[in-house]
Amino acid sequence: MRVLVVANQKGGVGKTTTAINLGTALAAVGERVLLIDSDPQGNASTGLGIGRALRKHTLYDVLMGEKTLAEGVVKSSVPGLDVVPSDPDLSGVEMELAQEARRSYKLRDALDAVREAGTYSYVLIDCPPSLNLLTVNAMAAADAVLVPLQCEFFALEGLTQLMRTIDLVHTSLNPKLEIQGIVLTMFDRRNGLSAQVANDVRNHFGETVYQTVIPRNVRVSEAPSFGKPALVYDLKCAGSQAYLRLAREVVLRERARRKVAA
Ligand SMILES: Nc1ncnc2c1ncn2[C@@H]1O[C@H](COP(=O)(O)OP(=O)(O)OP(=O)(O)O)[C@@H](O)[C@H]1O
Ligand SMILES: [Mg+2]
Repeated sequence: MRVLVVANQKGGVGKTTTAINLGTALAAVGERVLLIDSDPQGNASTGLGIGRALRKHTLYDVLMGEKTLAEGVVKSSVPGLDVVPSDPDLSGVEMELAQEARRSYKLRDALDAVREAGTYSYVLIDCPPSLNLLTVNAMAAADAVLVPLQCEFFALEGLTQLMRTIDLVHTSLNPKLEIQGIVLTMFDRRNGLSAQVANDVRNHFGETVYQTVIPRNVRVSEAPSFGKPALVYDLKCAGSQAYLRLAREVVLRERARRKVAA
């Protein structure tokens, strides 16, 4: 079981869109995927059609130790893709766990039983736009971080801070944490700035950046309002096809890692 966390403290860069559609694409190629919604906004839950009424238990109950992760799981409409939904209560976790010694390991501890059960081959964690306790929990529980980066002028702003946080978690909480890759999102080929940002990011981060670029695509932005991943809403659209390619790259990187480790 590989645990990938989708993180960037910058808001609206495509974290949730990537978590939902990468999760769907991985499930489509036969992986058994669990998407954990670790954002109090609950966008990943809503985007997968899991409305409030279906959120009997949420990640909040899991992190507070009141439910197991397995008890929090809801099936999505995509075969092979399960979800642990969130709700606004999740924003209280930081305060409520403030006095707890193992507060940064709540999610990792909760994942142990799931790992042992062998139910999933991939766990994706969608993070809030913040480097708070929820993001730290996700990174402490993860094998690798996947960073969505929007192709716009301020893309690189805040990235130093994100990398510093990853480093910090790596040295103090989770020595196995790696960066899976950086994915360029909302690329607009009619906009020269998009290409320039993509170039800059590739020059700076080299191979860490996936070959696949996610284009700006209306169908991708429409899909969540139907409670569907873009891949289900319109499989043929450029955005869906890009997420399928991204899934292939992610799996190839994981395989290459496994070979190195073996
Ligand atoms: N490839 C794309 N093409 C068009 N619109 C997109 C694309 N990716 C994301 N969007 C839209 O951009 C907005 C932000 O995307 P998303 O919610 O995935 O970002 P986020 O990083 O999860 O945001 P937050 O920081 O609030 O959690 C959404 O309205 C989404 O539909
Ligand atoms: Mg989001």
